[in-house]
Amino acid sequence: MSYLETSIEIAREAGALLAEYYERRVRFELKGEFDLVTEADRASERLILERLHSHYPSHAVMAEETGSHAGSSEYRWYVDPLDGTTNFAHGFPVFNVTLALERAGELIAGVIFDPTRNELFTAEKGAGAFLNGAPIHVSSATRILDSLVATGFPSRKRHQNVNVHFYYQLAMISHGVRRAGSAAIDLAYVACGRLDAFWEFGLNPWDMAAGILLVNEAGGASSDMKGNPASLRGPHLLVDNSSIHAEILELFAEIFRGEYRYEMPGISPEPVL
Ligand code: IPD
Ligand code: CA
Ligand code: CA
Repeated sequence: MSYLETSIEIAREAGALLAEYYERRVRFELKGEFDLVTEADRASERLILERLHSHYPSHAVMAEETGSHAGSSEYRWYVDPLDGTTNFAHGFPVFNVTLALERAGELIAGVIFDPTRNELFTAEKGAGAFLNGAPIHVSSATRILDSLVATGFPSRKRHQNVNVHFYYQLAMISHGVRRAGSAAIDLAYVACGRLDAFWEFGLNPWDMAAGILLVNEAGGASSDMKGNPASLRGPHLLVDNSSIHAEILELFAEIFRGEYRYEMPGISPEPVL
C-alpha cells in the first residue's frame, strides 16, 4: 500500500469513530481558556497513532493532543485527530480528520476527511489533488470583487489577534467572508474552488499540512501574509486560487501599514441597520 492509501484508510477509520461520538453528543473540557477538547479528539488520536506506529514504526509523528513522537527516519506525519472541535462539541456539523506526511522537510501526501459529507480530499506531491477520487482545481476568479473567501480565529491568544482588521476589509470588497471553524476544510474548499481564498493568523502545523499540499496540487498559491513562502511553522497562512494572490497581498500590505480602505463604523445606541 502507498503512503496515501494507508493514510486514506486511517482517516476513514478515524472519521467513522468521530461520527459515532458526534451522534452521542460528547461532553467537552477546556484545555485553554476557550480551547475545547473532547474524548473524541483523544480517541481519534489514539487510533491514528496506533495505526501509524504499526505501519511505520520508524516514522516521527507530530499530533495535536500528544505532541511530538520521535522517529528514526526522514518521515514525519502531522495529525489533527479532530479539526473543528468547537463545532463538533456544539453539534455544528463542520469538522474533519486530517493527516499529512513529510519526507525530509517536504510534504508528499495529505488527506482531509469530512465524515459528515463523506468527502475525502487527497493529494500527493506532483500527482494532483482529488475529491472522492475525482481531480479538483482551484477557482478561476481573477478579482477579490468576485470572490468568496474564508478565515479563522484561533482560540488561543484571542486578545492578540489582529485578524478583525483583515476580516473587515475583505468583507467590504468580496462576495463575503466565511468563518466555518475548521481550517483544514477551509483549505480543502480553496483547493476544489468552493472558496477563492482563506487566511488565518496563528495556525498549527497539523491544521495546515494536508491543506497546503492540496491547494498547491490543485493549482493554487500559498504564502504567509507578506508573500514569503508558506511554512508549517508559519504560523500565518494565506492560500488562494493564485490569480488573486497578488491583489490580496497588496490589500494586506495596506492593512499592515494602517491604511484602511474602509473605516469600521462607529457604534451608536440606535444603529442604522
Ligand atoms: C481549529 C480550527 C479553527 C481554527 C483554529 C484551529 P481545532 O482547530 O481549525 O477553524 O480557526 O485556528 O485551531 O482546535 O478544532 O483542531
Ligand atoms: Ca485543528
Ligand atoms: Ca484538533
